[in-house]
Amino acid sequence: MDDFAEILLTVPKLTYVRRFSGVMTKTGGIMKIGIIGSGNMGGSLGKIWARKGHEVVFSFSQDPSKLDALAQSGGSGARAGTPRQAAEESEVVLISVWPPALPQALAAAGPLTGKIVITCMSGLKPDFTGQTVGLPTDRTSSLAEELAGLIPGARVVEAFNITFAETLASDSRSFGGEHPSIFYCGDDAEAKAVVARLIADADYQPVDAGGIRTARSLETLASAWVQFAVVSGLFPDLALKALRR
Ligand SMILES: NC(=O)c1ccc[n+]([C@@H]2O[C@H](COP(=O)([O-])OP(=O)(O)OC[C@H]3O[C@@H](n4cnc5c(N)ncnc54)[C@H](OP(=O)(O)O)[C@@H]3O)[C@@H](O)[C@H]2O)c1
Repeated sequence: MDDFAEILLTVPKLTYVRRFSGVMTKTGGIMKIGIIGSGNMGGSLGKIWARKGHEVVFSFSQDPSKLDALAQSGGSGARAGTPRQAAEESEVVLISVWPPALPQALAAAGPLTGKIVITCMSGLKPDFTGQTVGLPTDRTSSLAEELAGLIPGARVVEAFNITFAETLASDSRSFGGEHPSIFYCGDDAEAKAVVARLIADADYQPVDAGGIRTARSLETLASAWVQFAVVSGLFPDLALKALRR
């Protein structure tokens, strides 16, 4: 059994599979995905999903031509739009901005009630000191929990914060035939199942890490992971895989 067949067997079939019709991708139906923050992470993930058959709207760049270029390279399922269009027209919204730009991004997006909101934000400072941007380090909270508090009614799932944008930008997520793991967490089981399928569609192995509170640990691990990669000299050609037996 290959990795993806195994993932499919472990992800429960939920109502969204019936709701999203159309061309089937490797792991499910077409989804409408809004990208808010189309930089290293959002730009690459959006392109991957669009090329897998999903409908993707790229938004929230200070340079509109960047959004057009992303839409071009994403193919027929991709287009550029405003953050409000990306939010309104999508079932799933990826928020991939630097934390200081979050208030501006949320104001531009408008209501996110009922949306599945993926956050990949880690907020590691650019000098890799391990300190997060704008949060105390005693870990009584996480960026994901802060985000969930700002958008009550949205179904927030943290994912993709322990991978490198360089991995997403490369042609493949294969490391010697192995696919890296993505830990994801959230409090809404249906939203998590959808995100697990999108993780698989991005050619990673989804690993359920529990409720949104686990984001405290995931964001800490993300900071540690990038430091390990840099200090070892292996950045960015290093990926994390959770082994199972
Ligand atoms: N890079 C990684 O390897 C990585 C890995 C895991 C998690 N993360 C997390 O993912 C999040 C996004 O990281 P990234 O590397 O994708 O960042 P990025 O390349 O800088 O992307 C951020 C996006 O937000 C847009 N933006 C719009 N208004 C902005 C404003 N006022 N100030 C700042 N940005 C604004 C940027 O616009 P422009 O297009 O005009 O720059 C850009 O498209 C961060 O929280 C980071 O911690 C990053």
